[in-house]
Amino acid sequence: MASAGIKPSTMRAVQYSSYGGGGASLKFVEIPVPSLKKDQVLIKVEAASLNPADYKVQQGMLRPFVPKFPFVPVTDVAGEIAEVGSGVSEFKVGDKVVAALKFWKAGGLAEYVAASGSLTVLRPDGVSAAEAAGLPMAGLTALQALKAIGTQFNGTGSGSNILITAASGGVGTYAVQLAKLGNHNVTATCGARNLELVTSMGADEVLDYKTPEGAALKNSSGKKYDYIVNNAKGGKWSAFKPKLSSRGRVVDVAPPSFGNVVAWILTRFTKKKISVFLMSLTMGELRFLLELVKEGKLKTVIDSQHPFEKAADAWDKCLSGHATGKVIVEI
Ligand SMILES: NC(=O)c1ccc[n+]([C@@H]2O[C@H](COP(=O)([O-])OP(=O)(O)OC[C@H]3O[C@@H](n4cnc5c(N)ncnc54)[C@H](OP(=O)(O)O)[C@@H]3O)[C@@H](O)[C@H]2O)c1
Repeated sequence: MASAGIKPSTMRAVQYSSYGGGGASLKFVEIPVPSLKKDQVLIKVEAASLNPADYKVQQGMLRPFVPKFPFVPVTDVAGEIAEVGSGVSEFKVGDKVVAALKFWKAGGLAEYVAASGSLTVLRPDGVSAAEAAGLPMAGLTALQALKAIGTQFNGTGSGSNILITAASGGVGTYAVQLAKLGNHNVTATCGARNLELVTSMGADEVLDYKTPEGAALKNSSGKKYDYIVNNAKGGKWSAFKPKLSSRGRVVDVAPPSFGNVVAWILTRFTKKKISVFLMSLTMGELRFLLELVKEGKLKTVIDSQHPFEKAADAWDKCLSGHATGKVIVEI
């Protein structure tokens, strides 16, 4: 294995050891720097980006299988390669990269993490660690949800009339920008404090979800949506259905309610449809997103950047469900 020169034997990491407890249950520990399997790279972490999935694992969403305690959380990281496994040929020590960690192993809230070489990509010059770290889960989700509705990102698509809910969140902020690259007419929902931001990202109309019109998902033209990308928890098929055009479709990104899962099955046989969505870690698509950021066509909206010592604050901000864009921990 190639070595980064001075690699410490131990590192600081943040762990939790039981379900629940939010940021208060995160503890700093000194643990061994991970040793590598041959298909892995060791990343010296510069930025870790939090996602709702991170706190849902802590809440026990996948109990009793995940996580194994004690657990170092957070899946999305950017940093520098410190060591390369013997079976990895694409990277060398010193390369700037972004990686998606496996959610059942995670490890991102630490000074070093062992990442699969196949889930790591080079970070282009000019893209900061924080900007890149925001992309794996939230950016890929936004991109794949839009691809699921046939979006073309090369300027050739004619676009559709679409609604994106929770447009101020990690997924939503990427989704609005990507939807505009796909020539869609975008109505977006968010809270009052983010109306201006979401408009500045290119949304054609922005609805405050706490007003009657916003809650009713009603745009000013009254035109029905060809597609709805739902990022808002609690979004119901019964509310979406009347807002869809005759062959309209909902892509349910947020964790689906029981009713939405039933509707997913039943609407396989109807013109208006809802489908439950699950993102996948596709590195070619992550490279595509990084290029868009490099070219200035896509921005990572950053809610807040927290020093490592304040990781608990970052955790609680994400857990609040009121982040605007991505919550980043700098390590
Ligand atoms: N299916 C998948 O594969 C997949 C992948 C990634 C994420 N997800 C899920 O997708 C959802 C969104 O993820 P995220 O990272 O974007 O979450 P997030 O960053 O935590 O979203 C927070 C934002 O959502 C806004 N919001 C909350 N409820 C809203 C509503 N009813 N209408 C409009 N805006 C609302 C909040 O605005 P205010 O602060 O103004 O309330 C806040 O700005 C999460 O539930 C996540 O678990 C699923």
